[in-house]
Amino acid sequence: MTEAKKTAKLELDGETYELPVYSPTAGPDVIDIRKLFAQAKVFTYDPGFTSTASCDSTITFIDGVKGELLHRGYPIDQLAEKSHYLEVCYLLLYGELPSAAELEKFEQTITRHTMLHEQMQNFFRGFRRDAHPMAIMVGVVGAMSAFYHDSTDPNDRKQREIASHRLIAKMPTIAAWAYKYSIGQPFVYPRNDLDYASNFLRMCFAVPAEDYEVNPILSRAMDRIFTLHADHEQNASTSTVRLASSSGANPFACIAAGIACLWGPAHGGANQACLEMLEEIGTPDRIPEYIARAKDKEDPFRLMGFGHRVYKNFDPRATVMKQSADEVLELLGVENNPKLQVAKALEAEALADPYFAEKKLFPNVDFYSGIILEAMGFPTSMFTPIFALSRTVGWISQWEEQLDDPQLKIGRPRQLYQGETSRDYVEIENR
Ligand code: CMC
Repeated sequence: MTEAKKTAKLELDGETYELPVYSPTAGPDVIDIRKLFAQAKVFTYDPGFTSTASCDSTITFIDGVKGELLHRGYPIDQLAEKSHYLEVCYLLLYGELPSAAELEKFEQTITRHTMLHEQMQNFFRGFRRDAHPMAIMVGVVGAMSAFYHDSTDPNDRKQREIASHRLIAKMPTIAAWAYKYSIGQPFVYPRNDLDYASNFLRMCFAVPAEDYEVNPILSRAMDRIFTLHADHEQNASTSTVRLASSSGANPFACIAAGIACLWGPAHGGANQACLEMLEEIGTPDRIPEYIARAKDKEDPFRLMGFGHRVYKNFDPRATVMKQSADEVLELLGVENNPKLQVAKALEAEALADPYFAEKKLFPNVDFYSGIILEAMGFPTSMFTPIFALSRTVGWISQWEEQLDDPQLKIGRPRQLYQGETSRDYVEIENR
């Protein structure tokens, strides 16, 4: 933590409290309230953490007004164009872009950890066959702690590194097998001669009776989707991973907690919800009806894939995703895909509407990702598992960073209690 060069003053009940203020390398200053309760006997109140920094971090920076997303300082659009997912994984994990030799070694390590313990197949087979792949992923990733005992101790640096590599390497296999299980097809084993994205596509779409030729344009688009979702600073699932880990829980349990949080439609589940919404709208002439519903405070409906807690002008990931959608759909000869037409018209109509402009609501990363994934052949239920596998490296990098932080304490928020004060128990016959 840097030294405080400024202080903020808080006046309360005639007393003045001085609070240190830290300046980050980028972003707003941060008021340190850690000693506030000890000194002034008050808590701060910030449900949803809209104004609270929960940790120090050097991994990812977002400027929501500029629409900027940096990983270790590198802009996401440059990484999406010039780099690839495993290189971005290395960058997130180790802080710098790798040399050619470092990258080769890292890729080999990840490639050689992609197989799952053979007994884990029994675990998959225990799920009902119509289980959502996210339900399977939460269970199977949590269960990894029962299969890989030699990499569960967060206090052992070597074990931590092995767990990190295992998680990044095995997550595509887990996601692909969750899919295969849900459609009643045999599991397809990973192949070491394929790159990360091609391997995932093949494990999803090959069958023992017929191999799957991976189209390099589709594999590049898949890799880009992974890259665009790799990390996003202290979002809900990442904060869940950090909170779970703050108690000393093992890495597989922490990542399973992150997957569970990601599943919700306000977070990673938005890509599935968005495609379902585009399907429901069906044709551009029905867009005004849905825009009216999104604006109606009596109606819980929201435009899925629209809005973001941090981005207030545009989501830089959405810009790259939209380009990718055009490329992939053209390659597949489905430029006239009705959902893409509805999506483009919906984006244009919503952006022209003062409600969305005033509230600074713009398409987010999930607005176009579902269209690409569907065109590739994925059912909607696989969209969030693909987000989860991409985000695994972000969760792990943040988890590693937290464990190295000398200020690490168990996460324990306070509350504004609004319930009954102490009262005597009433016997059941007197209630
Ligand atoms: N459609 C209609 N109105 C909206 C929407 C939307 N998608 N998003 C926000 N609003 C309105 C909201 O009703 C509120 O209005 P008012 O001030 O009159 O009460 C205002 O905008 C601010 O909304 P909020 O819920 O206070 O904002 P938030 O920062 O808590 O929520 C969000 C951010 C992403 C949860 C929200 O915009 C949303 O629910 N979007 C749809 C779901 C979605 O696409 N999620 C994916 C996010 S990107 C991927 C990821 O990070 O997981």
